[in-house]
Amino acid sequence: MHRPTQLNLYLTNRARLQAPWSQRGAIDAFERDWIAQRMSELGELSPPGSLAELKAAMKAQIEAEQQAPHDSETYVANHMPLGEFRTLVQEFAVDGLTEAQVFYYVLPRLPLEAQMPLLRIMIDEFGSGNIKRAHTTLYIKLLHELGMPTALAHYQECIGPSSFEFVNLFFWLALRADDASYFAGALTHLETVIPSFFECYAVACQRLNIQAHAYYTEHQHIDGFHAIEGQRLLTAMNATGVLDPAKAYCGALLASHITDRAFREAVAKARHATEQHACTTGG
Ligand SMILES: [Fe+2]
Ligand SMILES: [Fe+2]
Repeated sequence: MHRPTQLNLYLTNRARLQAPWSQRGAIDAFERDWIAQRMSELGELSPPGSLAELKAAMKAQIEAEQQAPHDSETYVANHMPLGEFRTLVQEFAVDGLTEAQVFYYVLPRLPLEAQMPLLRIMIDEFGSGNIKRAHTTLYIKLLHELGMPTALAHYQECIGPSSFEFVNLFFWLALRADDASYFAGALTHLETVIPSFFECYAVACQRLNIQAHAYYTEHQHIDGFHAIEGQRLLTAMNATGVLDPAKAYCGALLASHITDRAFREAVAKARHATEQHACTTGG
């Protein structure tokens, strides 16, 4: 057995970028089972075999979602009272307070050309380096106006499992998925749907006279641009030979499924669960 060399160390370092935090402990098995379960719920997929097929399949998926009924969104926009809205804001606070921070782990997994569109998205997520404009700061302003705590630890104690799934999905995509294509598909899907999805929040803020609506309205504006960067990300990954169209499509569907569950369950919790509601006011 030869002694390892600096070359061996370098090659191992490069390889580890692709799975920096992979372990075989019980918590990783829990994560694998959870992701496998959610993937199995996606039903029969006809996986795209090329970039063009991927883009067409993602577009068709979004069109189908936009045809489907949106009872929870309609309720949030037109009827949800302020107390319930606070619970809804609570359920996405762990995401809002840590927004996009796990994306840093994806960047080195991509070829340089594909890092550029993701980096441009991240520059916006982090307010071009100005914390006052970082998306997390917009969430904090919303929490302030609603008289809610701004400590992450507070929300870790009160959000539901489906809200954690939304956050944990991005950890899996960024750190454990065996291919960055899953992340690219998931992110592109979400950036594409958010401008219309967040309309229900924007309307609710207007109806409830909430001034700190920028978290939602800024996303409605900027995610239109991020959706274009997402397409560029997929194109650059394809051009550099690292795109797996089937995995990117699976990532898009997984993000759609887990986001939909998180949103519906948060709305249901806001409407029905009084004891968790106390969490928003108690602390
Ligand atoms: Fe954002
Ligand atoms: Fe975005």
